[in-house]
Amino acid sequence: NMPPLAQCYNLLDFEAVARQVMKTTAWAYYSSGADDEITMRENHSAFHKVWFRPRTLVDVEKVDFSTTMLGSKTAVPFYVTATALGKLGHPEGEVVLTRAAHQHDVVQMIPTLASCSFDEIVDARKGDQVQWLQLYVNKDRAITQKIVQHAEKRGCKALFITVDAPQLGRREKDMRVKFSDTGSSVQASGGDSVDRSQGAARAISSFIDPSLSWKDIPWFQSITKLPIILKGVQCVEDVLRAVEAGVQGVVLSNHGGRQLDFARSGIEVLAEVMPVLRERGWENRLEIFIDGGVRRATDIIKALCLGAKGVGIGRPFLYAMSAYGQEGVERAMQLLKEELEMNMRLIGAATVSDLNPSLVDARALLGG
Ligand code: FNR
Repeated sequence: NMPPLAQCYNLLDFEAVARQVMKTTAWAYYSSGADDEITMRENHSAFHKVWFRPRTLVDVEKVDFSTTMLGSKTAVPFYVTATALGKLGHPEGEVVLTRAAHQHDVVQMIPTLASCSFDEIVDARKGDQVQWLQLYVNKDRAITQKIVQHAEKRGCKALFITVDAPQLGRREKDMRVKFSDTGSSVQASGGDSVDRSQGAARAISSFIDPSLSWKDIPWFQSITKLPIILKGVQCVEDVLRAVEAGVQGVVLSNHGGRQLDFARSGIEVLAEVMPVLRERGWENRLEIFIDGGVRRATDIIKALCLGAKGVGIGRPFLYAMSAYGQEGVERAMQLLKEELEMNMRLIGAATVSDLNPSLVDARALLGG
């Protein structure tokens, strides 16, 4: 009784199907947020506070939404962000996302806690397809150094260090399903087979170093030439610090609402950050990405208008993969491309460089 793929008309449709067809444990792990899931819901609804100020009589016969992120050309200003445990949703795991990303020239961020091994995901890459590495920093720095240098050697183009997870958030949906699924275990290639009694997420994350701090950044810069991006920055003070630390970018993100409940949405933090960077003339010192709750091309366009270089998308691709496999992920990407083309045309922007703050009214985001 699964609807045919052609009946998924937008990214939210995949979520509705996935909820019906996914195994309880997988659905719980993918869909859960921290505590009362206020941040998780806010992530998407915060985009509803931004409205467009379109320009008319602009020649939009041809619309081009290709762009460059961290020195790599890409067809679209969105990327597949890192999400752990791909095999919970699909027997082949993350390589399904790799293959779909290749079809649409979309960048993929490989998670430390992928179900497939890192090398399997890199081997699934074709041509000049771009991949980045998401890093959870191990208490044993020798392990981390090996992971980073191996990724660089295997052609990953950037290193995203997750900084919003010194401890994994409490995702109660995920913790509860242990009762309906006792004895099962999940496997992450980066770790051991684990006991699910704390939920999948917490069980696989005990190696993460909670003492990681700004003092460690020079060490990362000494072990790799890859651009370093801090994933999970949540206020302008830390963005300024990131510039001073000499990193190449930040992702304004709250981990899809899975960490600190009542963390603000990425789009709201972006509205706080960009005016300060512009005031200092620092807006070109680093690339700003956001993720969390991006479900429509209008969300992507809003983020780009406000100054983001690109946006990450997590759950929608997991849901598409879980329900329909590679074909599903490809359709989700295709739908976003169609939405991008139409909506850029409707707001009067022919290229991503035409997107600027004057095309949006974002006053409501900052308590206006
Ligand atoms: C994540 N996210 C994540 N982030 C990270 O840095 N390392 C990780 O291992 C994971 N794992 C993970 C698993 C699952 C199931 C989800 C849903 C998310 C966070 C992810 O990179 C991103 O910040 C959010 O997914 C973005 O929000 P949306 O698009 O899912 O709303």
